[in-house]
Amino acid sequence: MFNNTEIGIDLGTANTLVYSKNKGIVLNEPSVVAIDTETKQVLAVGTDAKNMIGKTPGNIVAVRPLKDGVIADFDITTQMLKQIMKKAGKQLGLSIRKPNVVVCTPSGSTSVERRAIQDSVKSCGAKHVHLIEEPVAAAIGADLPVDEPIANVVVDIGGGTTEVAIISFGGIVSCNSIRIGGDQLDDDIIQHVRKKYNLLIGERTAEQIKMEIGYALIKHDILSMDIRGRDLVTGLPKTINLTSDEIQTAIRESLLHILEAIRSTLEDCPPELSGDIVDQGVILTGGGALLNGLQEWLSEEIVVPVHVAPNPLEAVAIGTGRSLEVIHKLQKAAK
Ligand SMILES: Nc1ncnc2c1ncn2[C@@H]1O[C@H](COP(=O)(O)OP(=O)(O)OP(=O)(O)O)[C@@H](O)[C@H]1O
Ligand SMILES: [Mg+2]
Repeated sequence: MFNNTEIGIDLGTANTLVYSKNKGIVLNEPSVVAIDTETKQVLAVGTDAKNMIGKTPGNIVAVRPLKDGVIADFDITTQMLKQIMKKAGKQLGLSIRKPNVVVCTPSGSTSVERRAIQDSVKSCGAKHVHLIEEPVAAAIGADLPVDEPIANVVVDIGGGTTEVAIISFGGIVSCNSIRIGGDQLDDDIIQHVRKKYNLLIGERTAEQIKMEIGYALIKHDILSMDIRGRDLVTGLPKTINLTSDEIQTAIRESLLHILEAIRSTLEDCPPELSGDIVDQGVILTGGGALLNGLQEWLSEEIVVPVHVAPNPLEAVAIGTGRSLEVIHKLQKAAK
């Protein structure tokens, strides 16, 4: 069975990735679909569609079918998945024929949705389709020894959700998932700019602000940047200057929620595993792990070592693809 092509799909709220054991990451595109509202036709998927967000004429909308860690629009999600399988198939050539596929689905998806995702991947030509929990995939992708009886702590901060899990001996010992991730930080920034400056900015601008001058709650040299939006009073375009300390205040609440989720998971840890956590610490995955100062802030707050995975944005996809090797140990968690 393991001689067949194995591919892993990370169906994320923000990004969808495909990993093949032989070729590594073969596809990495935003989870966005452009649709013609009149004909209901899918016009573009991924990067092409993301570039259309907020800029399209009336009858074309760019939508994100997954939101807050759940599938918001199921039909569009399956259409996106099909296009993605097609694109990945081209990259992989003939070797994708009848692959074994593991899909990491959003944590909030229902059993009906999971089943349907499984079916739709199968209808794209997969031989077997397995599902896996995101934190387990993240841990495997971050090279943690998940099959050993020691505590592996993973914090995956994605677009829609933050998931914290303690994994030992291939299974989840304790975990926590909150619907706060990178998207919420973007939204916090949009609200701040609207309230303080009466200026409307889009999601992509907010994300850029977060990446450039967004900081976790640590002391840092203040940075600033010029941004453009639409003045809510005059309706005209306007430029303002934002500083990193005001952005820090804007995202503070959300960051504290993330910290709280980590704390409460660690508190649930069985005492026998606590020693491992003090030694091994916590590993961060997901795009949110890249927020400036996050690693430093978290290690100050939870007083155990905090590491960022070498490839935080790819860890889940890599782990999903590799999980078949350990699947017999993961069957409990994969449901
Ligand atoms: N340098 C950065 N600084 C801060 N945030 C970042 C950075 N790079 C990416 N992000 C954020 O990471 C998020 C995407 O991460 P990721 O691809 O892991 O999410 P996802 O897996 O699609 O979502 P989920 O796991 O919730 O379904 C986005 O919110 C993005 O803005
Ligand atoms: Mg993810």
